[in-house]
Amino acid sequence: RRFLVLNGPNLNLLGEREPEVYGSVTLEEVEVRCRRWGEERGVELRFAQSNHEGVLLDRLQEARRDCAGGVFNPGAYTHTSVALRDCVAALRIPVVEVHLSNTHAREPFRRRSLLAPVAAGRVEGFGAAGYLLALEGLLGILRERGL
Ligand code: DQA
Repeated sequence: RRFLVLNGPNLNLLGEREPEVYGSVTLEEVEVRCRRWGEERGVELRFAQSNHEGVLLDRLQEARRDCAGGVFNPGAYTHTSVALRDCVAALRIPVVEVHLSNTHAREPFRRRSLLAPVAAGRVEGFGAAGYLLALEGLLGILRERGL
């Protein structure tokens, strides 16, 4: 079993980027924690980050061939990208949307997620721990489907 963990723009700056909002854990550390989670459960992880919408689209499209599901933090593209939403809608695999911050407690423009209607589930406001919660949720969805 293999999952994709995909991160969008500016998430490579995690740890140094607005730590009061996003915490002090780096993306590398998030990856280490996710991999540890995967090792304990026999799940192989594909981890990727890009600042480019097209690269994120390519990674997602690839996942439909080689991953059972995905955890996706689209960063600011959450609020703007019809293309990423359409891509997730086109995939048959479940994709869980994750955000470090509680987007509803912030600026009004962050309240709208174009991805939310096509996501299998959403986790937000739990900081870096949200990735593990999203992975656990994804595993649960797949088990429920008998996959
Ligand atoms: C974010 C929330 C988005 O609004 C923001 O643009 C990000 C990070 C989060 O993880 O909290 O880049 O997706």
